[in-house]
Amino acid sequence: MSTILVRTPVITGLGELFTTHGLSKKTVVLFDEHTRKLYGESLLQTLHDEGFQCKELVVPAREASKSFSVAYRIYGSMIEADVDRSWNLLAVGGGVIGDLGGFIAASYFRGIPVIQLPTTLLAMTDSAIGGKVAINHPLGKNLIGFFHLPELILIDPSYLKTLPQREIYSGMAEVVKYGFIADEPFFNFLDLHFSDITSLKEPFLTEAIKKSAFIKADVVEKDFRETDGLRATLNFGHTFAHGLEKLAEYRYLRHGEAVTIGMVCALFLSYNLGYLDQQSLERGLSLLKRFRFPKGVVKRRFVAIDSELLLENMLSDKKKLDKKLRFVLLKKLGEAFLLEESVDESIVLKSIDDGRRFFSGKEAC
Ligand SMILES: NC(=O)c1ccc[n+]([C@@H]2O[C@H](COP(=O)([O-])OP(=O)(O)OC[C@H]3O[C@@H](n4cnc5c(N)ncnc54)[C@H](O)[C@@H]3O)[C@@H](O)[C@H]2O)c1
Repeated sequence: MSTILVRTPVITGLGELFTTHGLSKKTVVLFDEHTRKLYGESLLQTLHDEGFQCKELVVPAREASKSFSVAYRIYGSMIEADVDRSWNLLAVGGGVIGDLGGFIAASYFRGIPVIQLPTTLLAMTDSAIGGKVAINHPLGKNLIGFFHLPELILIDPSYLKTLPQREIYSGMAEVVKYGFIADEPFFNFLDLHFSDITSLKEPFLTEAIKKSAFIKADVVEKDFRETDGLRATLNFGHTFAHGLEKLAEYRYLRHGEAVTIGMVCALFLSYNLGYLDQQSLERGLSLLKRFRFPKGVVKRRFVAIDSELLLENMLSDKKKLDKKLRFVLLKKLGEAFLLEESVDESIVLKSIDDGRRFFSGKEAC
């Protein structure tokens, strides 16, 4: 499994760390244009001081960079720089850079090691961990990819100081998800310290990141290829979220925002199907109520959308199995399961409507 380090600063002593982990000091450093500007100089200087040979590459800071054409261009730059199998790749950024960098590392010269240096809350707690790496295809998101575990995941919470608040909330959705699916005491901790974490207060921020990263790593270790339903529980709220993201053209809604809305609908679905009691539903909703979205986003991207249309778009999600939607539900706060049998569409539609009322300020319970 990958080694996860959480500390500030995380980049000092990288030379020795790489050597201990059998990694060479020949490294392709992949940034997006924002992470290059914010952290590039100091990181490259540190690597230089530690005796690294680096090839720096920068891609535009947008989801569209997770594409074959961008990957193809990067392969070309690496070939021209004589990068061979003795090199490795350090991905410095959010989920876009982690996924693209991991995809390139998994495929270049039949695979070189990847090291993740996540700089968004979402990447620190979710996308950098677990080895799922992918690019998008015009017919769907994350469809072309590999399982390629990072050798190292280097997490420094202080990078979040420059992250816009919208991105903090987006990452917080995945953090809260772990409380819902795996750990009731963690849920209680998040309930108590929600605003401490979103305002980056220590030690709460680091505690939340560590706990999330280790819950994800533990799930991945037990079910790496998502074969027995355990890893699938990480998709709590995601069946709804993928439909919402698709409708928002993967541009107007952040992934975590879609997951927040999706978790509201999934809580209602768990309750409507009789798995979750009312008290737990209300506790879950009261935590999700604290998420903030830019003005008008939830209205335009969820409340105003027809439930049938959302359901149709959820059905086109790649995680469908034989056209059957798969839902992760809660039995209680801190315990999730993948429902194997199909759910009556009318109950899914009712749960979406309940979610819509929740966001309109009129809770359905
Ligand atoms: N592989 C997985 O398991 C997995 C899991 C969840 C999501 N994802 C993928 O992750 C992607 C979303 O990741 P994301 O939310 O991190 O988005 P992102 O990578 O687009 O980053 C969001 C924005 O923040 C900027 N940024 C990054 N770090 C910064 C910092 N420290 N300060 C200021 N700005 C910074 C980026 O340049 C970008 O503009 C999606 O493509 C999604 O499919 C993958």
